Amino acid sequence: MIFYYSGCGNSRHVAERLGELLDERLVFIPKALREGQLDYTLQADERVGFVFPIYSWRPPQLVLDFVGKVRLSVVPSYTYMMVTYGDDAGLADKVLGQALGSSGLRLDAAFGVAMPNTYVNMAFMNVDSPEVEKRKLEQAKTRVEELAEAVKEKRRTVDLNRGAMPGLKTNGIGKGFVKWVSDKKYRATDACVGCGLCAKVCPLQNITIENGKPCWNGNCNHCEACYHYCPQNAVQYGRVTRGKGQYHYRES
Ligand SMILES: Cc1cc2nc3c(=O)[nH]c(=O)nc-3n(C[C@H](O)[C@H](O)[C@H](O)COP(=O)(O)O)c2cc1C
Repeated sequence: MIFYYSGCGNSRHVAERLGELLDERLVFIPKALREGQLDYTLQADERVGFVFPIYSWRPPQLVLDFVGKVRLSVVPSYTYMMVTYGDDAGLADKVLGQALGSSGLRLDAAFGVAMPNTYVNMAFMNVDSPEVEKRKLEQAKTRVEELAEAVKEKRRTVDLNRGAMPGLKTNGIGKGFVKWVSDKKYRATDACVGCGLCAKVCPLQNITIENGKPCWNGNCNHCEACYHYCPQNAVQYGRVTRGKGQYHYRES
């Protein structure tokens, strides 16, 4: 069984590909939380995977919330995380491992897949260049296939890029990010045509269309789906996203 979360499609793609390769069922975490689907019956020998993007060198808070609430019929024979990130994961595996430990579960393996960057809400951050985007997507294809083999073998390992100063990033900047994150600065410019795609793609169903324009309703984790999927590039975050690129995963 694979529990997954994704804002801009990278992690959804990895979860779906892994689901195909392992022939496993998928559960979308935000939907499960919304609908209170927290009880899952597992086969005796079943593996459990968590697939999600890295947010500020940590698992997104809603993944940790889900881990704290989910009830599995048996302790899985193997539990792993497979994360997508632009560059590095810090100590995200330790954070997930602790959350799982509090629920009586153990993290057996942590895998990372580099995918195009989606975070643009800070001055020095933008999407990757077309060359980097292409290279990451090509490498991710074989990487996921290789990692599916590792999961089949129930390999106990940590195979991801922690990056420099992972403790500072995860426990300092990352914890601050969770407290700082807010949707107050999201807005639609005059280019908005009220198509409603932003509301449709928001994984948290946080956007409503009022008088032909999107309104953000306070339950946001900066996944950036509203920004990247907008066909008019009309969604902006304050002034910091002006002139920046857009990216979301597309099947090629
Ligand atoms: C809020 C936010 C925070 C991010 N933080 C990191 C990070 O700490 N390290 C990193 O390498 N990439 C980071 N990224 C990039 C994403 O992890 C990466 O693009 C991921 O593949 C997006 O997955 P998705 O398309 O499934 O949402 C961040 C992206 C977002 C939206």
